[in-house]
This record gives sequence, structure tokens and C-alpha cells, in this order.
Amino acid sequence: MNQKHLLKLLDLSGDEIFEILDLADRLKYERRHSIPHPLLAGKTLGMIFQKSSTRTRVSFEAGIYQLGGQGLFLSSRDLQIGRGEPVEDTARVLSRYLDGIMIRTFAQQEVEALAKYGSIPVINGLTDFCHPCQVLADLQTIREYKKSLQGRKLCFIGDGNNMANSLIVGGLKTGMKVSVATPSGYRPAPEVLAFAKDYPEFSWVEDPIEAAADADAVYTDVWASMGQEAEQQARAAIFSSYQVNRAVMASAKPDAIVMHCLPAHRGEEITAEIFEAHANEIFDEAENRLHAQKAVMALLMK
Ligand code: CP
Ligand code: NVA
Repeated sequence: MNQKHLLKLLDLSGDEIFEILDLADRLKYERRHSIPHPLLAGKTLGMIFQKSSTRTRVSFEAGIYQLGGQGLFLSSRDLQIGRGEPVEDTARVLSRYLDGIMIRTFAQQEVEALAKYGSIPVINGLTDFCHPCQVLADLQTIREYKKSLQGRKLCFIGDGNNMANSLIVGGLKTGMKVSVATPSGYRPAPEVLAFAKDYPEFSWVEDPIEAAADADAVYTDVWASMGQEAEQQARAAIFSSYQVNRAVMASAKPDAIVMHCLPAHRGEEITAEIFEAHANEIFDEAENRLHAQKAVMALLMK
């Protein structure tokens, strides 16, 4: 892979994404068969969290350990970054101690600055703009269930948020059709729409049933992301018709899979019925965070 960092999927080529997915599949196989894969023996990953996390934190920490290295959980509540030490300085200091940094934060700019000022690989573990690690795991999951990504249709319903942004880029770069339904005031980011406009396989509509037509995978995410808690009630009203439910699934292909990055709010963006009917897919997807991120770490930190 010809990349120093994983800051956003816009930076990667389709081939680079497939290189990650192929290694993720291999590492998943090796873990299943208890074949050791100490690709990062002796390496240390620092993990900076300015937001909560279950999956990202645990899968990165377990993943670096399984690769023979170790992870350091760095909460911004405890770091000087939380008291205003500039990210530019934090980057240069941590680069002297560590072999890689994973960061979950608000501004994409902060992740880009960490990469610019540091001298070690930086991995984006979610910003307000994107969630590349999640989408690598999602693509791995779709490929497992549908055998190939080429020509498959991925439909995202809900807020045009970090998940929508990364799914559009990741899906289109790997040959998928991508349809998105959001309320018109909550569209994906302008730079993502600018990227997608060169792809006839992309569509944005307001109607979720229309977006879901003949989809192979139907994806949703919370209506209020981390940092938007104050808007929760207002958003619940705005997004009430953007629920993945029986009617939406009746529009998709009969064998469509359902995906959710989690955590899920049953009764809001997805009904309990649809969630439970597709729980295997959703938790395979969560599991694949581990394998996809191990591949990213191995390729960037080796
Ligand atoms: N999907 C995801 O990133 O989950 P966490 O917020 O628990 O890390
Ligand atoms: N859009 C959600 C994703 C959580 C994994 C958020 O940013 O909170």
C-alpha cells in the first residue's frame, strides 16, 4: 500500500482498499484457525479518544495485541490535549514514543494535523467527517455475504453523516452502486458529493423506499451522532420517516443484508424486528472491525 496514514477513504485507491480487504480476510482465517500472525511484534499503538467507544477501542486494542504489539488507551480527559496542548505538539511528542496513533475526535482537521506534524502512521478511528475503519469492515462483510462488491447495490438511509460519507466513497471506489436517502437539509458532505458526481452509480434521493429499491445491502446509523446530543429530539422528528423497517426491506432485494455500525437505537433508525432478523449480519460486521483494522495496522506500521 502506497499510503503512510489512513485519514479518509478519499485518499485511497480502489486497489489499496482491496489490498486491505484481502489481508483482513487472511487475518480472519488465521485467527479462526489459531495460526499466529505476529506482524507487528514489539510495536506500540497509541489510541487517543475524545469520544466514547466500545468497538473501536476494544478491536484496536485486541487487534494490536494479536499482531504481537501493544496498545495504549489515551483518553483526552487525561492527556494534556484535553487541557489545550496543541495537536501539532502532541503529534511530535507521541512520534518519539510510539509506532502508530489511532485517533477518534471531532474535527477531521485535527487528524490531518496529527499526521502532518507527526512522523508515524495515523489512523482515523472516527471524526465528524468520516469513519474509514468502519467502512473497511463493512466492505469486508458485504463481500463475505455477496461474494463480490462489483455491481452490488449499497443503500444508506438516515443522516448524511460520517458513515454516509465513508460508505459513499468506499462503495464507489470498490465498484458498488451506492444510493443514499437523507432529508434534504442533511445531505452528505459537499466534498463527498463532489467526488460522487463523477459516478453514474451514485444517487441521492429523499425517499428511503426509492433508495432501497433492489439494494443488496441496506445500511443505517443513529440520527444524532456523538456531539449532537442536544439535537436529539429535533432530529427524531426530522428523521422519523427514515427508519429501516419492513416497508424499506420490501423494496430491497429479498436476500438483502442489513447493516448498522452500532450502537443501534431500536424503534428509531431501525425497528427491533428488522434488527433481530439481521443480527447475524450486523454482528459479523462488528467482528470484522477487528480483522479490517489489523490489516490496516499491519500495512501501515510494519
Ligand atoms: N461502530 C463504532 O465505531 O462503534 P464504537 O463507537 O463503539 O467504537
Ligand atoms: N454516526 C455515529 C457513528 C458511531 C459509530 C457517530 O458519529 O456517533
